Amino acid sequence: MKKKNLVTCALPYANGPIHIGHLLEHIQADIFVRYKRMIGEKVFFICADDAHGTAIMLKAEEKKISEKILIKKILEDHKKDFFNFNIIYDNYHSTHSKENLFFVKKAFYLLNKKKLIYIKKINQFYDIKKKMFLSDRYIKGTCPNCNCKNQYGDNCSLCGSFYSVMDLLSPKSAISKSDLVLKDTTNIFFNLSYFEKILKKWIVSGVLDNAISKKVMEWFENGLKHWCISRDHPYFGFKIPGFKKKYFYVWLDAPIGYISTFKNLTNKNSKISFNEFWKKNSKNKLYHFIGKDIIYFHSIFWPALLDVMSFRKPTKIYVHGHVNINGKKISKSKNSVITAKKWLKNFNSDSLRYYYASKISKNSQDININAYDFFNKINSGLVNNVVNLAMRNASFINKYFDGMLSKKIYDIKNYKSFILKTNKIDFFFKNMQYKDVINEILKISSFANFYINKKSPWVFIKNVNKFNYVQNVCSLGINFFRIIMIYLKPIVPSLSHKVEFFLNTKLNFKNIKRPLINHKISNIKILYKKIFIEDCKKFFENK
Ligand code: MSP
Ligand code: ZN
Repeated sequence: MKKKNLVTCALPYANGPIHIGHLLEHIQADIFVRYKRMIGEKVFFICADDAHGTAIMLKAEEKKISEKILIKKILEDHKKDFFNFNIIYDNYHSTHSKENLFFVKKAFYLLNKKKLIYIKKINQFYDIKKKMFLSDRYIKGTCPNCNCKNQYGDNCSLCGSFYSVMDLLSPKSAISKSDLVLKDTTNIFFNLSYFEKILKKWIVSGVLDNAISKKVMEWFENGLKHWCISRDHPYFGFKIPGFKKKYFYVWLDAPIGYISTFKNLTNKNSKISFNEFWKKNSKNKLYHFIGKDIIYFHSIFWPALLDVMSFRKPTKIYVHGHVNINGKKISKSKNSVITAKKWLKNFNSDSLRYYYASKISKNSQDININAYDFFNKINSGLVNNVVNLAMRNASFINKYFDGMLSKKIYDIKNYKSFILKTNKIDFFFKNMQYKDVINEILKISSFANFYINKKSPWVFIKNVNKFNYVQNVCSLGINFFRIIMIYLKPIVPSLSHKVEFFLNTKLNFKNIKRPLINHKISNIKILYKKIFIEDCKKFFENK
């Protein structure tokens, strides 16, 4: 039976455009999905916009439009950006949806019924000017440890210490810049400690990579803090039933968005069974792709919520690091954001996909990008090593043989040994080591180019008696290229599409061992354009 998978990316906030930091995750997941489909597995690939919370409320205010209009516009924009990078979702939904409201209410009902939540009065900072309670993110002040000014409510970016917002010196609202007062309010708390035992067992079950699960286990050392799942008015989110002016905290309804987006997909396609994927002991796989900043939510809150709702837990959570440009963090305030649109104005989508793939490994270290590195990866790797292998051989086949490849593989020994060399690539794909996939591909394409150099068809083309030889050698070169492109297909879909037209055949694993013989290829002048270092430098500089 076909293996069935559900793959998700973290739901981007609907308060700004998709940038190349987000794209790392979506490209990583999209390659995973395309590879799985190529080896014959069934995959549903879903995502949604995370449409609630203070950040979205403030953005709508800034733009002087309602939240609903903002999130609608951004949803369309996000969908287009992903599509333009060949990241094709089976469903891209929103957390501001009726399906999500349904499951959030269900979760709340069950939390209540199982007595896992309680109400507590707390003292919280209040912005009198904005008339709202502020969470730590929106409070700035002086670090109680090193006296550095302008630090966030819960941690200091200079000395790295973590503290309670109550200890922050001269706290001010980051929104209105005004002084704050302490005010009483009641909030709803989720008793997370109830899940300690279950979670500890689950976290070391292989769902997270070792290094990550170790880090997560450290969070249990002082016991799990109870989680505040409510927010006061004004807030953009779902109202809590039975409470006045209280809303669910965005991080409660966001992960539930994974469930509701899938539910929405099953509403559109009745052949897909909701329960088959989400029931407690589902055999189907569930994979989440997330960044290292949201591990806590996905490894603690999320499985606890799933437990409450009697749904299955994820099979695996893949955690990636952050993208840095020229060694520096991507920062909105420092204007170093490269949006998806800006990328496409300068380069094509495959170039980012290929570049990221060449850097993605199993670990969650940050990924640094810069002009020279990008330039080299594309020009020496993809263009000179891979694409050029096709062009140099195709030029002879088209010019002298009317596009016809030889009637048989003439050097079967080398052809077979070439296929053997690809063995490791499958392993690397399965293990999320795309970096090693690319390295192997470069190795085998170097081998193929070296082989062609040694056989030097250009020397023999002038000799009529050697016509056959030239056709044989160049046809083998094209066959080497075909195998390389089958492996590259999940990574560079646009190029692969062109190559399928050029080779006049679909690229797939099923018949990888069957070479193209006595087969006509098309005449294509350019498969992939070189890039220029000046353009790369201009693009990446000052970021
Ligand atoms: N809305 C939450 C996720 C909810 S999931 C139930 C969120 N949104 S986000 O827009 O801030 O980030 C979405 C994803 O993009 C996260 O996995 C985050 O780690 C990732 N990235 C955002 N900036 C990034 C980089 N600069 N580099 C790599 N990934 C980055 O978090
Ligand atoms: Zn400090």
